[in-house]
Amino acid sequence: MEKKQVYRCSVCGNVVEVLHVGGGTLVCCGHPMVLEAVKKSEEGNEKHLPVVTVNGNEVSVKVGSVPHPMLEEHFIQWIECIVGENIYKKELKPNEVAETVFMIDGDASNMIVRAYCNVHGLWQV
Ligand SMILES: [Fe+2]
Repeated sequence: MEKKQVYRCSVCGNVVEVLHVGGGTLVCCGHPMVLEAVKKSEEGNEKHLPVVTVNGNEVSVKVGSVPHPMLEEHFIQWIECIVGENIYKKELKPNEVAETVFMIDGDASNMIVRAYCNVHGLWQV
């Protein structure tokens, strides 16, 4: 297990992000939780890969190049920007727009931007 990994319960849908590695196994509903694979490319209609624009310390993120659905049953749950040890996160709800702006401290050149779809998992650029 590694810090910042995302795990999902395949029974109830609980999603957790690792803040600190202790060494045990994550279990939910009586089963080991499933590690969400980080997806970095998408074929066809790109709706998940974050589109990032950097202007100084202002980081604008849209998910994705074609707007992702924001329906009750299928939506982007959060957008996250990781710069070194700092994590900036925007939680989203259905019917909101899957975009946000972060004001970051630090060097944007080595930042990671991720988005989580409740149906299609974790996407990163
Ligand atoms: Fe999706």
